[in-house]
Amino acid sequence: MEQKREQWGSRWGFILATMGSAVGLGNIWRFSYAMGEGGGSAFLIIYLLSVLLLGFPVMLIEFSIGRRSQADAVQAFKKLAPKSPWFIAGGLGVLAAFLILSFYGVIGGWSLRYTFEYLTGGITGDSSEFFSGFIGSTVSPIVWQFIFMALTIGIVFIGVQKGIELSSKWMMPILSVLVIILAAYSLTLGGTAEALDFMFKPEWSAFADPNIYLTAMGQAFFTLSLGMGIMLTYSSYLNPDVRLTSAAAIVIVLDTVFAIISGLIIFPALFAFGLDPAEGAGLVFIVLPNIFEALGGIGTIVGLVFFILFSLAALSSAISLLEVSVSYFMRRLNMSRRAVTLIVGVVISLLGVLSSLSQGAMEITIMGDSFLDFIDGFTGNLLLPLSALITVLFVSWTWKKEDILTHTDTSGTAWSGLFIFTVKFIAPIAILVVLIIGILNW
Ligand code: PHE
Ligand code: NA
Repeated sequence: MEQKREQWGSRWGFILATMGSAVGLGNIWRFSYAMGEGGGSAFLIIYLLSVLLLGFPVMLIEFSIGRRSQADAVQAFKKLAPKSPWFIAGGLGVLAAFLILSFYGVIGGWSLRYTFEYLTGGITGDSSEFFSGFIGSTVSPIVWQFIFMALTIGIVFIGVQKGIELSSKWMMPILSVLVIILAAYSLTLGGTAEALDFMFKPEWSAFADPNIYLTAMGQAFFTLSLGMGIMLTYSSYLNPDVRLTSAAAIVIVLDTVFAIISGLIIFPALFAFGLDPAEGAGLVFIVLPNIFEALGGIGTIVGLVFFILFSLAALSSAISLLEVSVSYFMRRLNMSRRAVTLIVGVVISLLGVLSSLSQGAMEITIMGDSFLDFIDGFTGNLLLPLSALITVLFVSWTWKKEDILTHTDTSGTAWSGLFIFTVKFIAPIAILVVLIIGILNW
């Protein structure tokens, strides 16, 4: 029984859903910090180069495979290259999306718990103790993780157009308004000069530091949700008259703008209260609550708005992760979207329980890392770059030059020659370097 493939309702629906996937925790808790630590404007330039030479071409390649094959991340390769092992790229992508969602759901749950906390008065006292007490307990974080996963499952259950597309059409405008309001407020707190100095200081010596290039390339991949079949799956619901180049450009520009504005929320507030920059969970769940408390009454509202923003950003990324697996297993198991979404969603949630418990309630470690950190490192350092590398090689080395240009909508552009050179040589070499050094560091 072959079901008719679902389609996006409009070009903007596709773009907003793709943005929903791209805009996430990486923008809020990583980008600006990386900029501040990595030489300010110097890092920004290296990052923009990484996006242009790596992020943009790889996104276009994933888009073109999806649109051309009209199939899920594994079947796409089998359809375009029967009887060859290229489908492994898709398999690694599905595996990565599956594993990443298991712990992403845990962090989404933390965010919902904090949203609820600010709805009912905010977090006072020692925020660090509150955080470790919460994530280290057994039942409560799992309950919040399940609520977050239930929302994710609910949206994907409804379908591409009425679930993912419609929710993105609501979430992305709301997100944009919330970041702008929060940044405007934060800029009034008195730490602006220091924040701009931290984020944009031109430290040109950064160009000589090889680590910065790696950070920038890694960030370009993570922030654009590349290497896990998401862009491929989303573009498989696309009809051919949508121009991929402009869609990719819009997503990339807005993702970067979103990251910079997020920095303008966090750093002015941080410096206004004399706190130190940090990244990751510690920044969002420990440092920011101190600021919200110091702001007094209005801090509860600011905190609430921030955690709504954070939860929505996480949710729109989570649905894209789930859709990769759902799309794959619908075909594999030959079952309906609804049945598959429930089954796969529940299995991923149960796997996530291990990540949740590994945060203090139980000793669950692999190779010395907590279960959550292990899955994070394994996917980020190994699966994603490997899947991206094979995907790029598949297109650049097995498709004819004219086919590459046609299916990426780059033929006839002034930069088509540069594009071919990039996908054949620059991108594979850069990804290979990221992969090798990622494995060595990890
Ligand atoms: N692109 C998201 C971000 O910047 C992260 C993400 C990774 C989302 C993988 C989905 C899948 O935060
Ligand atoms: Na992002």
